[in-house]
Order: sequence, then C-alpha cells, then structure tokens
Amino acid sequence: MAGVRAMVDLGIDHVPNEYLTSICKGITIKAPNNLPIIDLSGIDSDDLKRKSAAEAIHLACQKWGFFQVIGHGISNELMQDIIKMVHYFFNLPAKERMVYYSTDIYKSFRFSTGSIASAKKKFWSDYLFQHCQPALHEDDVPENIPNYRKITSNYAKAVDELARKLLRIIAQNLGLGWQILEKHLDPPKQTMKMTYYPQCPYPDQAIGIGCHADPGTITVLQQELGVEGLEVNYNGQWIPVKPVEGALVINVADMLQILSNNKYKSAEHRVLVNTKRPRVSIASFYGPTDDKHIAPLEELLGDNPPMFKACLFREYMDSFYKNHLGTRNIETLRILNN
Ligand code: OGA
Ligand code: NI
Repeated sequence: MAGVRAMVDLGIDHVPNEYLTSICKGITIKAPNNLPIIDLSGIDSDDLKRKSAAEAIHLACQKWGFFQVIGHGISNELMQDIIKMVHYFFNLPAKERMVYYSTDIYKSFRFSTGSIASAKKKFWSDYLFQHCQPALHEDDVPENIPNYRKITSNYAKAVDELARKLLRIIAQNLGLGWQILEKHLDPPKQTMKMTYYPQCPYPDQAIGIGCHADPGTITVLQQELGVEGLEVNYNGQWIPVKPVEGALVINVADMLQILSNNKYKSAEHRVLVNTKRPRVSIASFYGPTDDKHIAPLEELLGDNPPMFKACLFREYMDSFYKNHLGTRNIETLRILNN
C-alpha cells in the first residue's frame, strides 16, 4: 500500500470500499468559531499578562479542552519551513516515499498511511511519524528531504519549550506547584506526526481522521493556512477550527483529564477532507513514557474520590489502538460510581 496520495495520483474517480465511512459523521455547525485565541507573549516578564493568559487557559481547559495560542515562541519561518518540507516529501515520486514506509511504531522515523492496523476502515491521510524524545535515530534520518534533521530538531525543541511553559501554567491553574506536571512527565515522550490529507473526489464518503481524543497529556498542532478540515466536538456539535495565521492549536489529551481527576476535558476531534486541495498538519504529542503509572494526582483528591482507575501508559496505548475509532477510550478507565 503506497498511500492515499499515490492512489489519488493514479486518477481515481470514486472512494474505494475500504475508505468508505460514515463513522463519526454528523453535521458541522457553521457557528462562529469562538474557540479562544490566547496570547502568550510577555507572560514571563509581566505578571498581569501571565495572570490573564492563565485564566483564559483555565477556562478553555474546562470548557473546550481546545484553544489556540499566539506569541508562543515558534517562529513563523520555522512554521512555514516545516509545512513546505512535508509538501516536498509528498510531491516526491511514490517509490521514493516508499523507502521509508513502515508500520513499526518503534521506528524513530517512518512514512505510513491510512490508519491503525486494527481499524476496520482506513483514513484518507498519509503521514510521517517521528520520535523527538527519545531522539530521532541517526540511521533513520530521511536522506531525500533537504534539511530534514535541522528543521525537525529546531521545531521539536521549540515545541518542548512551549509544552513545558503550558504545563507550568496548567499545574498552577489546578492549584498545584508549578513544577508538578513537568516533574510527573520527566522524562517526557515527545513525538511528531506530519499528516498529508490529499484531495478526495467525494469528501462526504471518507474521513481524514475519525473522531478521537489524543491519548497523551497535551498536543500542539500546527494547521496549514488557507485550508480547513479540523473540527472539535463541543457539547455534541462539530465546530470547525479555522487556521489562524501564526497560531497553534493546543488540546487537552486523555492523560491530563485523568491527572486532573476530570477537572479538565480531553477534546474529541476529527478531520474532514475536501475536493480542492491537500492539507498538511503538524501534530506534536507530548506525554508520559510507556512505563509511566497514570492515576488522578493525589494532591487533587482531598474529599473527591478518584474518577479514573490507574493504568500504565503502555496499557492505555494498547487499548487506544484497539478501541479508538468512534469511541472515547478514556471511558474504559472511568470509575462509574464516583
Ligand atoms: C491527530 C489529529 C489533527 C489535524 O493526528 O491526532 O488530530 O488537524 N490531527 O491533522
Ligand atoms: Ni488528534
């Protein structure tokens, strides 16, 4: 399987059976998008700015599980370079892409497609997947993408700094010491998924990624400008998350919902495709290592009973891969009587 882009290049006029899906469909609400856009510039030196950004983040984590940030410290140039780089790779001849094709999740760099192995339906997307912490292995660096190592290592470093900044604010917002979440994740696992969603002749019949919530702690997502597709589920309605110049989308992922004992909600989202042009996104997943024991933080329990059972992150990922299409995997850990 050479990927969706390779299939589209052959000139298909229908959606092949394995991609036909109505999973998690449901109408998009064309409501005004009032997903918060929070400015992080100056928050390290200005207490008022820090306080107002922290309050906005607290509300967004409770209400949406999703928000956008500007003033985040990742340069426009780097944001543009990485999108161009992904387009470059997907414009290479299919056989050059296939050199890197793998479904081995332990490989530190790979090209892959469709969906997870256990899913019954395939997604209308191809992607590059890279490990950032622990680092990309020297032998895995793709030679046919100019500056790959330089661009992705600068990008991953900037995302790590941003994630740490957000985790400090979020910890304080939860009434914890600023270092608690960062310490909990020490060392963090950071990976990067660079997805390419090709055009689709019948976009109502396929889906770029079916609805899911990300399993880690937080996700930092860059959307390509000028093309839509990402939607967030808000009280049962699908709301488009329009790309905003210079902004990054932050989403609360399942481990943060568990650690916060349900104070914050991980947000369900999905990606639709279109007939006109491909879309690229860069998702950076920031979370625990596989051997990490996860449970609601003791400091937050007090009089409140834990809302989720404890687990190893590895076990959570296993059930995520088995269940995640159309379900909310976190529900497998919910303690029903609490
Ligand atoms: C993901 C994801 C969103 C996007 O890869 O988990 O939700 O806009 N991606 O590509
Ligand atoms: Ni996601």
